[in-house]
Amino acid sequence: MKHRFERRAGVWLASLACSALMGTAWADADPGSDQRTGMHDREPLAGDVVYQQYCQACHMADAKGAAGAGLFPALAGNPLLAAAGYPVYVILYGQGGMPWFNGMLKDEEIAAVVNYVRSHFGNQFPDPVSAADVAQMRGPVPVEQ
Ligand code: HEC
Repeated sequence: MKHRFERRAGVWLASLACSALMGTAWADADPGSDQRTGMHDREPLAGDVVYQQYCQACHMADAKGAAGAGLFPALAGNPLLAAAGYPVYVILYGQGGMPWFNGMLKDEEIAAVVNYVRSHFGNQFPDPVSAADVAQMRGPVPVEQ
């Protein structure tokens, strides 16, 4: 999985560079362009609510993950969360058995759940991410998913 992340991290870095070149073009993408998920019809959900509604079915209420039919990694005490960009990336684009949430969660919601996970379950990472950080990594909302 490390290999996969490194490969995708290359794409991520390339898109960061690209978004720097393009300025705010991505941020200006029509937010109403994807109505199917209802994402744009609600007030942003708080981080704990996002976790309960979208994450805990797999990662468990205590974020300690589970092994059974599949392997759901623990987010509690997970050193990979030290770099905030990693969970943002995994949530946006998915990875292995982890579904992607691009087009399903707002930038604010992804930032909130990343900040929630990184500051709960025994995690104490001090540097929160912002919706703008997520927007930089999101790119345009895909038309087809
Ligand atoms: C359908 C089950 C499922 C859901 C829902 C889900 N995940 Fe995951 N998640 C996974 C699996 C499986 C992996 C391991 C992916 C891999 O590397 O193969 C994973 C990996 C991760 C990782 C990387 C952990 C690591 O050690 O590399 C993070 C961070 C993460 N998930 C956060 C979240 C958050 C936050 C949510 C809610 C927005 C969420 N996940 C929802 C199944 C899920």
